[in-house]
Amino acid sequence: MSTIERAIQKLGRTAPDSQDASTRDDIPSSVTALEPNPAPLMDEHAALPEFAMNPPNDTDRDNDESASRIQMDYDYMASLGMVTPDSERNQVAEEYRQIKRPLLLNAFGEGALSNTNRNLIMVCSARPNEGKTFTAINLAMSIALERDRTVLLVDADVAKPSLARVLNFPVTAGLVDFLADPHRRLADLILQTNMPKLRILPAGRRHSHSTELLASDGMQILAQELADRYPDRVVIFDSPPLLATSEAAVLGGLMGQVVMVVEAEKTKREELKEALGLLKQDQYVGLVINKSNRPFGADYYYGSYGE
Ligand SMILES: Nc1ncnc2c1ncn2[C@@H]1O[C@H](COP(=O)(O)OP(=O)(O)OP(=O)(O)O)[C@@H](O)[C@H]1O
Ligand SMILES: [Mg+2]
Repeated sequence: MSTIERAIQKLGRTAPDSQDASTRDDIPSSVTALEPNPAPLMDEHAALPEFAMNPPNDTDRDNDESASRIQMDYDYMASLGMVTPDSERNQVAEEYRQIKRPLLLNAFGEGALSNTNRNLIMVCSARPNEGKTFTAINLAMSIALERDRTVLLVDADVAKPSLARVLNFPVTAGLVDFLADPHRRLADLILQTNMPKLRILPAGRRHSHSTELLASDGMQILAQELADRYPDRVVIFDSPPLLATSEAAVLGGLMGQVVMVVEAEKTKREELKEALGLLKQDQYVGLVINKSNRPFGADYYYGSYGE
C-alpha cells in the first residue's frame, strides 16, 4: 500500500461520514503524503502580542527590500503551537522539518521537479478552518530558519485575510493593491520581519473585486515574476479553501507545488478527492494531516500514490 493510500485510509477511519477507503482511484498519482501536524495547542487565554512596526534598517536592505518591518511576537506564536526560532528542538519544529524537506528537494534539490514555478508553494485545503494559515506560517518559519533560504509568505486568501490578524500587524497595502494598480511597486508592499529571512506580502486592503483579481492575468504575471526573479527563494501562498471559491483552483494552476492540509477526524475523504480534482492533473501535491492527535513519530507518510 502506498503512503498516500495509508493517509487516505486514515481519513476513511477517522472521518465519520466519509466513504470506504478502498475507493481512491481518483486521487492523482502525483499526490504525496507529508508528515502530520500536532494536535491543537491553542491557549485561548494567551496574552495578545504587542504590535510593533519599525522603520527599516538600511544596512540589510537589498534592491527588492520593502519600506516597513513588522515584529512578530515569538512568545505569542509559541503559545499558538507555532514554529519560532526558540522552538528548534520541539515537536512542532521537528514535524515541519519533515514536512518542508520534500518541498525543498522538489524546488531546489537534485531531481527537482521539472515543472515551472517549482519554488511557488500554495497551502490550501478543501474547506475553511482546516489549518491552512497555521501550516503556511509554520512552513515559512521553518524554511526561513534555514541558513540559506529566504521565504516570501503571501496572504492570498484575499477575501478573508488572516496573516495580519494572526501575526498581529496592521492592515497595509498588499497583494490586492498590487493587482488592482499596475503602477504599484511590489517591493514597496513587501514587509520585512524580525526573522531576517522571512518577508511577508499581506493581502492588502479590502477591494470589491479582490477575488476576481486573484484569478486575473495580473496574478499570473506576478507568479511568473516571483518564480523567475527569485528562483532561489521559496514563495508560500496562504490560500482560500478550494471548495469554497473558484479562485483557489486558478491560483493552484500557477503553483509548482501544492500543500493540501487535511484536518484529522474532520476532512471528509470525498471532499479531499473533490478538492484534488480541481487541481491540474499533473500537479505535485503534498498532503499534511493537521491536528492529528497521534503521538509524534507514530504516523509518517512519504512517497507517492501507487508506489
Ligand atoms: N496543528 C495545529 N495546532 C494548533 N492549532 C491549530 C493547528 N492547526 C490549526 N490550528 C488552529 O485552528 C484554527 C484554524 O486554523 P487556520 O486559521 O490555520 O485555518 P484556515 O484553514 O487557514 O482557516 P480559513 O479557511 O478560515 O482561512 C486557528 O485558531 C489555528 O491557530
Ligand atoms: Mg486561513
